Formats: sequence, C-alpha cells, structure tokens
Amino acid sequence: MGMYMKSKKQYLKAMGVEIWQDKDKAKKSKAKTLDNDNAQDLHSLDEVKKKVAACTLCALHKTRTNTVFGVGNEKAQALFIGEAPGANEDLKGEPFVGRAGMLLNAMLKSIRLDRTDIYIANILKCRPPNNRDPLPEEVKLCTPYLQKQIDLIQPKILIAVGRIAAQFLLNTTESMSKLRGNTYQYGPQKIPLLVTYHPAYLLRSPSEKRKAYSDFLIIKKALVD
Ligand code: URA
Repeated sequence: MGMYMKSKKQYLKAMGVEIWQDKDKAKKSKAKTLDNDNAQDLHSLDEVKKKVAACTLCALHKTRTNTVFGVGNEKAQALFIGEAPGANEDLKGEPFVGRAGMLLNAMLKSIRLDRTDIYIANILKCRPPNNRDPLPEEVKLCTPYLQKQIDLIQPKILIAVGRIAAQFLLNTTESMSKLRGNTYQYGPQKIPLLVTYHPAYLLRSPSEKRKAYSDFLIIKKALVD
C-alpha cells in the first residue's frame, strides 16, 4: 500500500472494521475546538461581538431574536456579569433592560454610577427558552467569549451578579449564602471578584436589598482606592 495513513480510524476502515460514533458528540467536540481556536484570533470587543452575532455553537441560536453581547464602557474598571438574557434583553440585544435591569440601574445610581461608567455582560449571550437555567454544555461553549471580554476590558473588579455567574466564575457549586460576603480573586491576573445578589432575586426578596447595597458600597470603595 503506497498511501500514507494518518489515523487509527483509517487503519480500521482499511481493515473493514465499521466505526460507530455518536453524531451529536462528534459535533459538540468539534464546536468546542473551533471556539477555543477562534478565541485566540480576536483582538477587540468589536471582533468578539461579530463572532458572537454569528455564533451557532449551541442550540440557543435557533430560538434567539438577538445575541446579547454586552454594553458599557470598554475601559470600565467594574465589569458586572449576569446570567443570561431574558425576554426583553433578547428583543433589544442589550443586557439587563427589563425590570431587573431597572433595579440594577437604581443600585448603580446609589453609588453614583451609571451604565456608561461600567461594563455589563452575561455568562450566556443567548436567551435560554422560558428563562431556564443555562445548561453546563451551553456555559462551556459560550464562556470563552466572556473570558475574551474580561481579557480585553481588564477591569479592576469583577462583580458576579447572582448564583449562576458566581458559580461559574468561582468554579464551585456552593450556594449564594456561602459565596456572598467574601472577596475572591479571579484568574491568573487575580482580579478581585465580588459576589452580589441578582436584581431579579431582590425584586422577589426586597428585604435583601440592604445587603446588596452594602456590596455596592464595597464596589464603590474598590473603584476609588
Ligand atoms: N438577567 C441576567 O442575568 N442578565 C440579563 O441580561 C437580564 C436578566
């Protein structure tokens, strides 16, 4: 046989051995590799945004109206990270524009900031149907985009808004009650990370707003120090 054969698969095929592979699994692992490779070539938020707008790595692209990349000051010192777009965000293509977003704006105002001072992004860039929790596979495929946003913005502080963001950024399954109230360091650059309640939770449990306000005072202090 004069031909050079590269893989075990090809040897087996030449031997007449039939190879079965789960099609979905094959697709998924290819998508992951593609995503990681592409992330290396993205050098500005605009480039990442375009990549996200065209993303079909997970099934959420089939049900989205718009991707929701992120918004705010590209040189922000504070990067707020939420969970995933809801219905309003999906329609507008902007994070935190519904009722929870209004509360987030009010909380920012309480420490004399507005959305143009900070940057806001989400773990997922597309809305999960019926606002269900993100699936681990969706988080895995989508978060290289968030990582790129963190690398490009280089914030002075990261704020994990709610459980899903906190658990992903801290690589833990701990509850919010355990996670909130401490400061952490994120990634090799050891970016200070603070965990606070999701404003959607605060809308349901207004008595917790006081604790959230104390988190925001810590954020303010980190920005002026
Ligand atoms: N909740 C989030 O976590 N993010 C949004 O963008 C909107 C609601």
